[in-house]
Amino acid sequence: MPRELINAGIAGVGAYVPDHVVTNEDLEIIVDTSSEWIISRSGIRERRIAPPEMASSDFAVIAANEAIAGAGISAEEIDLVIVATNTPDTIFPATACLVQDRIGAKKAGAFDLAAGCSGFMYALIVGSQFVSAGSCRNVLVIGAENLSKILNWKDRRTCVLFGDGAGAAVIRPAAPGSGILSHKLYADGSGGKFLNLPAGGSRLPASHETVDNNLHYIHMKGRDIFKFAVRATVRASAEVLGAAGIKLSEVDYFIPHQANVRIIEAAAKRLRLPAEKVLINVDRYGNTSTASIPIALTEAVRAGRIKKGDHLLMVGFGAGLTWAAAVLKW
Ligand code: UT7
Repeated sequence: MPRELINAGIAGVGAYVPDHVVTNEDLEIIVDTSSEWIISRSGIRERRIAPPEMASSDFAVIAANEAIAGAGISAEEIDLVIVATNTPDTIFPATACLVQDRIGAKKAGAFDLAAGCSGFMYALIVGSQFVSAGSCRNVLVIGAENLSKILNWKDRRTCVLFGDGAGAAVIRPAAPGSGILSHKLYADGSGGKFLNLPAGGSRLPASHETVDNNLHYIHMKGRDIFKFAVRATVRASAEVLGAAGIKLSEVDYFIPHQANVRIIEAAAKRLRLPAEKVLINVDRYGNTSTASIPIALTEAVRAGRIKKGDHLLMVGFGAGLTWAAAVLKW
């Protein structure tokens, strides 16, 4: 007889951003841009940039330890570690294994997950399946990025937009009727060309030529991603809310991927979600990719904004193209 599915919810969250703040004015000195352009086109005022010696696993470990403490468990109680990242410390071994070792999650399996900026939502949903099936009790999911290392600091179309950081969550069984109420993963690989890092994989291995041609940096067609992002966020939101049987008016917080304040505001407007329900941090951190949603969630939890019983609508989108959404009852 099939086992009954267990509800999975978030038991603890954590986040880390590097101390070093880079303002728009700082960027005006190194590329042909203006603070006015960056703010009016993206809403970004500043971002955090990691020192050269720090890698994604270093952020991930700090965010993870906060999430584990928040969940009131020890690292040895974790059954699985999933790290969503576009900037793993190395192509292999997986960054998740480095984290698993450093936090002392001695009984956990570990793997990385690549789903562009939707990575945290993908990891949250994938991780929750293990909890729902009863095969894991505590799953640690992390979004960690060191994007400053893969930005071309001479390309004004990308270098002004991104930042570094990490966020984490512990997923665990939740009371019936709470936790993740609905979720959905989406992909459209035909849009892969709009946002990628062309070299360093098996298609175009690293060579002097790839380095000379700046092919180890982020390449993005911003306008194409913009249109897709608004459409995907709105459609996915409607779909997961419908599946959960939750009305838009019952959403307490909308936590979208933080790529551009104009994308967030356009989606919120179409969903008729008032500004006070929309969590925004892109102005302070830029686009931190897989880390943006868990950082926003952690800040709201730390500030005591999210109360038991609140409905959260979380939506990610990014390279792949991928997008993913979930409705949670806190
Ligand atoms: O995490 C998921 C992936 N990323 C995203 O979701 C990003 C989605 N896209 C966006 O956020 C926006 O498209 C951008 C912020 C990237 C760009 O805004 P836009 O309003 O779509 O501008 P645009 O790319 O159409 O560029 C307009 C102009 C261009 O000049 P011309 O060709 O019209 O003369 C650009 O060269 O702005 C120029 N431009 C800049 N000017 C000053 C591009 N970057 C800059 C810059 N400073 N940093």
